[in-house]
Amino acid sequence: MGQKRGPAELKILHYDSLESTNTTARRLAEKGAPEWTVVVSEVQTKGRGRNGRNWISPRGGLWFSILLRPVGTVEYLRILQLLVGSIVCEVIEDYQIPARTKWPNDIVVESGKLAGILIETKVTPLQVVYAIIGLGVNVNIDEALLPEEATSISTLLGRSIDRDILLQNILEQLNEEYDQQCENDKIVADWWDKCIHRNRLVQVDIEGKTIQGVNTGLSNLGQLILKTKQADLIVLDEGTLRINPSQL
Ligand code: BTN
Repeated sequence: MGQKRGPAELKILHYDSLESTNTTARRLAEKGAPEWTVVVSEVQTKGRGRNGRNWISPRGGLWFSILLRPVGTVEYLRILQLLVGSIVCEVIEDYQIPARTKWPNDIVVESGKLAGILIETKVTPLQVVYAIIGLGVNVNIDEALLPEEATSISTLLGRSIDRDILLQNILEQLNEEYDQQCENDKIVADWWDKCIHRNRLVQVDIEGKTIQGVNTGLSNLGQLILKTKQADLIVLDEGTLRINPSQL
């Protein structure tokens, strides 16, 4: 992990509509905005998901990006992603929702996806110049407006919740834990404790191939470890994971 930096002050910028909070945060980062600048938008017209996918971002969701300037190398970003995932999962669990983490960057329940994380960065061979942590949480949204595999907090609870409190809880928790500079092993172990597919059969699509195996763990770099039918151990850096037999 990078070196200790001390408590950070949050600067929250609130918009009604943006193309993507990640794009606005990146623009601010290029202009030298400080760490913990947070960009929130009620609606995104060109929200981005992983692998170039669109991220549907109607009113009622929580769409925001946090600018960080982590001291460390690119390998740390995968760990940072796990840390963010664990925190969002814990904050959602506080609403009595059985939220779980799903590799590499989702927060889910058995019936669907609740939140996703998209980290975009500027890096040099030696260091991370900045990281934009983009977070999308399906909060008070009618499930019919979301992609088929998604659900929302309001659908699960049968009522709306206060999005400002949710945002505040996520930011406070992340601010605190980022500052504590925990060991990678602890961050990975915390994430794995909450993982929906731990020791379950999964399929991972990667570069046109599908690999099937039991997910027996995560490496201390946050890579997925699969045990295949042939009893080979495979370690994956990336891919799109599906849990068998569910379609999550
Ligand atoms: C994924 O699961 O594919 C990642 C989704 C990340 C969506 C968030 S919403 C706020 C931020 N702005 C974006 O355009 N994307 C991220």
